[in-house]
Order: sequence, then structure tokens, then C-alpha cells
Amino acid sequence: MQRVQFVETVLRDANQSLMATRLPYAKFEPILETMDKAGYYAVECWGGATFDVCLRYLNEDPWERLRKIRAKMPNTKLQMLLRGQNILGYKHYPDDVVRKFVQHAVKNGIDIIRIFDALNDPDNLKVAVEETVKCGAIASGAISYTTSPVHTLENYVKLVKELAAMGCSTICIKDMAGIMGPKEAYDLVSAIKDAVDLPVDVHTHCTTGLAFMTLLKSVEAGADIIDTATPPFSGGTSQASTDTLAYALRQLGYQVDLDDAVLKKVADFFKPVRDGYVADGTLMPKSMATDTQCLTYQVPGGMLSNLLSQLKTMNALDRLDEALAETPRVRKDLGYPPLVTPTSQMVGVQAVTNVLQGERYKKVSSEVRAYCRGEYGRTPAPIDPEVQKQILGDEKPLTGRYADTLEPAFEKTKAQLGDTARSDEDVLSYIAFPQLAEKFFADRQAAEENVVKYTIEEM
Ligand code: CO
Repeated sequence: MQRVQFVETVLRDANQSLMATRLPYAKFEPILETMDKAGYYAVECWGGATFDVCLRYLNEDPWERLRKIRAKMPNTKLQMLLRGQNILGYKHYPDDVVRKFVQHAVKNGIDIIRIFDALNDPDNLKVAVEETVKCGAIASGAISYTTSPVHTLENYVKLVKELAAMGCSTICIKDMAGIMGPKEAYDLVSAIKDAVDLPVDVHTHCTTGLAFMTLLKSVEAGADIIDTATPPFSGGTSQASTDTLAYALRQLGYQVDLDDAVLKKVADFFKPVRDGYVADGTLMPKSMATDTQCLTYQVPGGMLSNLLSQLKTMNALDRLDEALAETPRVRKDLGYPPLVTPTSQMVGVQAVTNVLQGERYKKVSSEVRAYCRGEYGRTPAPIDPEVQKQILGDEKPLTGRYADTLEPAFEKTKAQLGDTARSDEDVLSYIAFPQLAEKFFADRQAAEENVVKYTIEEM
């Protein structure tokens, strides 16, 4: 009997996709001990946008959040999402910082690090993978899924073999836009299973309505693990429902080791939580809708809404069709990057700019310039040489690995912060998000001084 295991995403991806990661720790703390008994393969609970949002909006120390989850869930593997050489930010960091970050993530309780790169450049994945393995954690090598003439099964298989050679112990197909159809999933999972002897995890979103079919065909092709979310936090831009997949897969004769009674308790807990966020507007009804336009235009849902809001602010909504037609051309010129943060923003903004300027690449953002210089890594196909020349002029693009040009930063930053940073974790928070961390440290200090003051007054 084929066994299918589940990664529950409510604490990270479902939370991030439906309500911009605004779920504070206190809201889900009461259910953690119950979740620990559900029988999940893992709970995805950290990384992605959680780190940024903890510091920026929730006044929470992301490291402390992780330690608290770890303490409440001793029996379940905890998973995080890491953007390879970008860690959790939007630029490349030096290798020493990537290594320190991985070390402390594992030290604070992470068991599985899912590592991806927006361009699928192995050079941007290898240091994070190597360090994860060295720390004794599970490195899950992820493919950022997209479609293009160069994103063939052969090329995906080549990448997967490189990930296996690096030491990844599972492979994840990460379909961040929910555009992978059931046939594509079946073919890709089959090809990966033929090529390497590693468990395959399929990650997709319900955005276009394909997810249940895509996951079912993935399982038929031999996928070992699927990513799902508890029913109240499933659907729309989030993952497919855990309980529904467990039900359907069991009916079809697959082994599912989840405890239904516990799943029900988890769903019962999160339902009023969700209703509260729907009532206060944090969770918008449009996040729960099905959007098949993404399939027609081959752009992720989030990117489509960005295009619309950009055109709206420029009073040019009537140019939408032109911008949508220009988007795949820009993507082709730039060597077919998968459309995921940060490349989706770069391509979208450039397409709108090209249309509104009436001349292509007359104006270019600093990000696109850096991309053309090679600072984001090797592109899936070469950048169109004429476009690259037009953007860079006489400047020569980088030939090696961008991170190799960066000076080590951890010890220097630690010395510079002095007493402000109380731990290596603080130093890493600062390196990832300097302004946010600075404010967080100051607020923490002020809050503690208040506590001391009140205690003295009471005495
Ligand atoms: Co996702």
C-alpha cells in the first residue's frame, strides 16, 4: 500500500497566502500541543515571510516564536522555507551569513529546511544545503516550478540530480503560483522518481483551482508527501484541505497516517480564528476565490493584481492588455525566470514601464540592472544579448557566483552591534532586516525597563 504523508502549512504558507502572515503566536499557541498528535510528516511554521512580519508588524522575536513552537511540539518535525542565498530577504548574503543562519535555525528547533532559488540556480542553493546537512537537519531541495521552452522535464531532472548530489534528502516541487496542471504534475513526479531515489513532496496552491487534481495525479505518479492546510485555512491562494485529501486518498486505497479526531480538533480551533480575521478585513474574500485567468496569462495571481494596481495608479488601466502581452516578452528577454519573488515584481514592473514609455527598456529599475549584471545568479536561458547590451552599456556582466564577491559579514556586524545584540540570533535578525531589528531591540529594551520600574514602585 502506497503511503502518503502530509505537511500542514497553516502556520506558515496558508497564513502567508491568505492573510499576509499576520497570525500572532498567541493566536495559535493553544492548539500546538493538539497538532503535535495529528501524525503530520511535518508542520511548516517558520521562514518565508514569517520572520519579516514578526519584526515588522507583530513585535515578536521570530527566534523566540520558533523556540516556543518547538517546546509545544516535541514530536513533530518543524519545517521552514529558506530562499537559498537570499535567506529570508530579497538580496544575496555572503556565505558566512547563510551558514550562521542555518546553524541557528537548526539550533532553535528546525528539522527540515526547504531551500529554493527564484532562478533555480544550483550555485544559490549549495551553501545552504551543505550547511543544513552538516547541522544534521533534513535538506529539502526545491524546484521553483514554471513553464517555458527551457523548463523541460530534462532540465528539471538535471536540477534534481544536482540537488541529490548536494545532499538533499527530499525533493520538493514548489508550484508557488498554482499553475501546475494534473498532467504536468504526473509527468514531472514520474520523471523525478525515475531519476533519483528520494521522497518527492508536492507543493501547490488552490489559486487556479487545479490543486486537488494536481495533488491526486502527483500521488498516482508516486509522490510521497503533499502540502495541505487545515480546512478553515485552505483553498483560494492557500493550499488544498488536509482533511479532504486524507479522506479522498484513503478512499482510493492509499495509507494515510493522520488521526481524524485530532484533525477535527485542529479545524474546529482554526474556524473561529479565521472568522475573526474575515470580520476585521485581514482575510479578504478575494483570497478565497478561484482565478483561472492566471492560466490564460501564465502569470501568478499576485502578479496580476500588482499589474492592475500599478496601471491604476498611473491612470492607465486601459493599457492592461498591452501590459499582459508584454509580460511574456520581457520574461523571454530575461531568460525565462520563474515568476516568484523577486523576479515576478521585476518582470511585471518592466512590462508596464515598456508599454507606458512607448519604447522598450528605455527606463530600467536598479533590480533589473543588477539581474542583467548577474547578481541574482545564472538565468534559465541566456538573457537576450541585445537587451543586456542596451541595459548595461559597456559594463561587463559577472561571470562567476555573485556571493563569492561579497565580504563575510557576521563577525563584523556582531562587533559593530556590541551590547545591542544579546545573542547571535539578534545579529542575524539585524543582518536580515536592519531597520526592523533595530526598532525591535529598542522596543524590547523599553518594555523591560518599564517592567523593572513597575516592580520597584510596587515594592
Ligand atoms: Co507556497
